[in-house]
Amino acid sequence: MTLDTLTRPLRDLRISVTDRCNFRCTYCMPKEIFTRDYEFLGRDLLLTFEEIERLARLFKGLGVHKVRLTGGEPLLRRDLEHLIASLRALGDLELTMTTNGALLARKAQALKDAGLDRISVSLDSLDDTVFRAMNDVDFPVAKVLEGINVAHEVGLGPVKVNAVVKRGVNDHTIVEMARHFKGTGHIIRFIEFMDVGHTNGWRLDDVVPAADIVAMINAEMPLEPVDPNYPGEVARRYRFKDGSGEVGVIASVTQPFCGDCTRARISADGALYTCLFATKGVDLRALLRSSATDGEIVDTLTGIWAARSDRYSEIRSSETVDLPKVEMSYIGG
Ligand code: GTP
Ligand code: 5AD
Ligand code: SF4
Ligand code: SF4
Repeated sequence: MTLDTLTRPLRDLRISVTDRCNFRCTYCMPKEIFTRDYEFLGRDLLLTFEEIERLARLFKGLGVHKVRLTGGEPLLRRDLEHLIASLRALGDLELTMTTNGALLARKAQALKDAGLDRISVSLDSLDDTVFRAMNDVDFPVAKVLEGINVAHEVGLGPVKVNAVVKRGVNDHTIVEMARHFKGTGHIIRFIEFMDVGHTNGWRLDDVVPAADIVAMINAEMPLEPVDPNYPGEVARRYRFKDGSGEVGVIASVTQPFCGDCTRARISADGALYTCLFATKGVDLRALLRSSATDGEIVDTLTGIWAARSDRYSEIRSSETVDLPKVEMSYIGG
């Protein structure tokens, strides 16, 4: 097993399958930047399903046990279930996906049939006005809730619901969300607004600390902490004391978790990033399209991981915030 310079193994692979999205969440793809004229990746720049499958197979050989498909919005990639089926055929891998849920009601059954294990759905508020303003394409809450329910029914649960919290925008709807999902079997996780990319105008003042979020919920529905499901789990877990489920918080700003970070990310055009906040990746597409053998690609991947020293969230400062980091919609969150 290859360890990086901070002795972290490589366990998870997050693969972005498209940089496009049908939402324009203000904190991720602000409309002023991601306009009609924005240059998204052309088709020939995207990794093909065969290329993605080859990489996943090689990463699996290096110790990866969980693959998560991301975007942009992964369900915009045509025939995605074919990719899932080919990843399923690689054998013992946990296969998951993070989606905005807009197309989920329609696609959940096909995803399950192809072999997807679980799904995480982004939903920032149950208040329809707040949610429509945050996704900025006037998309209604009800359709995302329908997607979550269908995913649950077809067996893609427990569905994790991810809500990015931005102060003054949706923090007044946190307790309502926790109450809504309590007892449903779905797990809501509140995410601290992060300084990913360089277009979302991030300010520390916009971050509601996870400890405050937990306190808010606990005041109305008593909580107690639970141990992580696995070492390096991103979310901190809390269970309702009355036994009706759990909530999580993802505190990458106030309580960074780089020490356990076992994640590699591949952008839709095949660049490898060893941190969500990186400014530069390594072009794997060129390697895949060269005559390199599997063994040579594995050597490259091993070398990159062995040299890794990323711990951005632990060293975040007023200077790092302004670095030209890659966009969340490109690298997949
Ligand atoms: P499971 O534990 O398998 O359910 O998945 P997950 O929580 O790792 O995946 P998900 O895509 O649901 O992640 C939720 C959010 O956590 C992401 O959208 C990011 O905002 C944040 N996140 C995930 N991984 C990292 C990471 O390595 N660093 C930082 N800073 N944030 C991360
Ligand atoms: N901070 C925190 N989370 C973010 N996401 C996108 N941008 C940010 C940000 N700036 C989340 C989305 C989704 C996942 C893909 O990443 O809400 O859950
Ligand atoms: Fe799309 Fe997700 Fe970004 Fe929102 S957060 S714009 S749904 S990629
Ligand atoms: Fe991993 Fe980078 Fe996130 Fe730290 S900031 S947890 S190193 S992806």
